[in-house]
Amino acid sequence: MSEAVYPGSLDPITNGHLDLVNRANRIFDRIHVAVLENPSKDPLFTTERRVELIKSVTDEIESVSVGHFDGLLVEYVQQRGSDVILRGLRALSDFEYEFQMSMMNKRLAQNVETMYMMTDEDHSFVSSSLVKEVAEYGGDVSSLVPESVERALKSEFEDYN
Ligand code: PNS
Repeated sequence: MSEAVYPGSLDPITNGHLDLVNRANRIFDRIHVAVLENPSKDPLFTTERRVELIKSVTDEIESVSVGHFDGLLVEYVQQRGSDVILRGLRALSDFEYEFQMSMMNKRLAQNVETMYMMTDEDHSFVSSSLVKEVAEYGGDVSSLVPESVERALKSEFEDYN
């Protein structure tokens, strides 16, 4: 069984992330979405809430599981018995960061491969940070995130709206 680990801050999951999970699900037997516990990045949603939101939109896909990790990603991947990290690539601007991360992960664990998929063009400009910014000021994010995430954003920012 091939499993790809799809890691990220996912604060929160967007339609771009979800599209990638669905497309990768046709290639790998299993996709494990791994949320980074990153209090230093001051996330909007707690790790538990981010995991819950991802579960709410992937629940019906049997081959998709969700977890969270801290520490080194490659260690988490290896602990799961997996050897593939899946990442999405949007614009050229993602490349430098992704290149460095994949090289570092390769240095740390030779047997773990990072595989990239281009994001769908509809979602090429969508990022969790921009979605949060738009939602914070009351903008419409309904085409950018799943409904449950839109509701969660609204309740986080209800003081503004
Ligand atoms: O969605 P993000 O924030 O771009 O995801 C970044 C992530 C979670 C993939 C990256 O920060 C990560 O792997 N962090 C875990 C710590 C680690 O393994 N660092 C060394 C690899 S560069």
